[in-house]
This record gives sequence, structure tokens and C-alpha cells, in this order.
Amino acid sequence: MCKIVSFISCKGGVGKTTSAVNISSYIHRQGKRVLAVDLDSQHNLCKHFGIIPGHLKGRTTMYDLFMAGMNDCSPEEMSELVHSAIMKSTTVDILPSTALLSSLDKILPAVTCRENILKEILRHVKNEYDYIFIDCHPGADLFAVNALTASNTAILPVEAHPLGVEGLDQVEKLITTVKRHLNPGLEIEGIILTKVQGNTNCCRDIRENIRNEFADRIKVFDDEIKLAIAVALCPAYGVSLHEFAPRCEPAKAYGRIALEVMFA
Ligand SMILES: Nc1ncnc2c1ncn2[C@@H]1O[C@H](COP(=O)(O)OP(=O)(O)OP(=O)(O)O)[C@@H](O)[C@H]1O
Ligand SMILES: [Mg+2]
Repeated sequence: MCKIVSFISCKGGVGKTTSAVNISSYIHRQGKRVLAVDLDSQHNLCKHFGIIPGHLKGRTTMYDLFMAGMNDCSPEEMSELVHSAIMKSTTVDILPSTALLSSLDKILPAVTCRENILKEILRHVKNEYDYIFIDCHPGADLFAVNALTASNTAILPVEAHPLGVEGLDQVEKLITTVKRHLNPGLEIEGIILTKVQGNTNCCRDIRENIRNEFADRIKVFDDEIKLAIAVALCPAYGVSLHEFAPRCEPAKAYGRIALEVMFA
């Protein structure tokens, strides 16, 4: 059975895309069939996997799939469209996005079944994958609701910064609402602490703060992702950390977290 996981946070730049890329590509390296969905008009996940905007000219993207879903196209049409949108990278398969996706912000709220569009899109390919990972843009909007409605679990990356925990309670609340009204099976996979700068007092305080506030109900992964130049550099080469610098600490930590996601 396919496991669908969303990477979600209200804050930008916390490591959603980095986590989605490196966890998905590690799981692919374990011989699993993996699809990564770029649900962000910044399309950083695509770039991270070496797909530049030029590669997407004339191609079907998430924008077209949402448009088709919003226009209630037939299951046959949707199936054909989703399959035509899938792109191959050096590792995982990808459902790409472009800047056009953001133009749906204003239309999506007016559509019937607006929360279920992504779920319907993925229904046509989920039997072909062991894992589907959804990289969300920052925020708790309808795209986030779509991702959570389509998912089995959510991973919440939190930056190890004094303000990093801000918005985490909002995400938790959104997940509770989606679970109650749209997707009763939804679970939180866990919180990943990212961009950790050594064992400073500041990082220790943040870690303690998160554990005190959330650990009674949300798993906090023991493995943390240290701030490292290799992590920041690898997107520019269009490859995952496990291809770029497999021995660096963040690569190993992402690998161990990926195994937890697989065997949870
Ligand atoms: N552990 C790390 N060490 C160094 N740089 C990192 C690390 N994690 C992420 N980065 C860098 O920080 C920036 C933001 O990371 P990322 O794009 O993964 O965040 P995001 O939450 O997806 O952002 P957005 O909300 O804009 O989609 C990127 O330039 C990324 O390369
Ligand atoms: Mg991102």
C-alpha cells in the first residue's frame, strides 16, 4: 500500500523542500517506488532534482492537474493527464510545478470539493508507488489542506531558531481540523529540527522548548539536521544530499529519519 506524506509548515525557509528531497531520495535508494509532488509555485523541489523551468515548457504540471480537477474532468482524462505529467529524475519520479500554480489561489476557494482535488489527482497513481511525498509551500491555506487531505501522515520541519516554533501550533490545529472533517486517518509523523547550529545554549533551549510543548502528543525525531554547507550547496547541482555528500552528518540523519518513516 502507498504511504503519502506531506511536508508542511506555516513558516518559510525551514527545510520542507530539503527534507522532502532527501528523505524521498533516500527511500528510493532502498529500492522503493517513490513519487515527489512539488506543490509550491516556487518549484524548488523540481530545481533540487535538476528540473529547471526550461524543462517544463509545454509540459503538464500541477497547475493543469488542479485545473482539470477543479473542472471535474472524467477519471479517464485525469488518469491520462497525471501520467503525462510525471517526470523522471536521477532518483525519484516527480509531479512538477511552475509559477503558474499560484494563479489558482483565488479560484480554488470557489470550487466545490476544493479540499479533495489533490487526493483525486493522486488516486490515479498511488497504486504505482510505495511512497508519495508532497512538498508544500509555506502556509496553512487550501493547498496545505489539499496535501493533508491526500496524506496518511505529515512531517513538520522546524528551524532551530528562537522564532522557529512560531506557527507550529497553527499547523497542529490545521491537522486536527483536517483529521476531524476530511481525513480521519491522518497522523503526524513527527517534528524534524533543522538547521541546528552545533550544541549552543540557544539550540538547547529551542530543543527543550519544543519537547516541553509538543512531545506529549507529537513525536520529535531524535535525529536533528545540522546546518551544513553541503546541504545548502547540493540543490545547485540538482542532486540529493545522498548523491552529493553521502558521508556528511545531515545525509546520515536524513537517512535514519527516512528509515523511521519507512518502518513507522
Ligand atoms: N541543514 C541545512 N544546512 C544548510 N542549509 C540548509 C539546511 N536546510 C536547508 N537549508 C537551506 O535553507 C534554504 C531553505 O531551505 P528549504 O528550501 O528546504 O526550506 P523550505 O521550508 O522548503 O522553504 P519554503 O518555505 O520557501 O518552501 C535553502 O537554501 C536550503 O538549501
Ligand atoms: Mg520549499
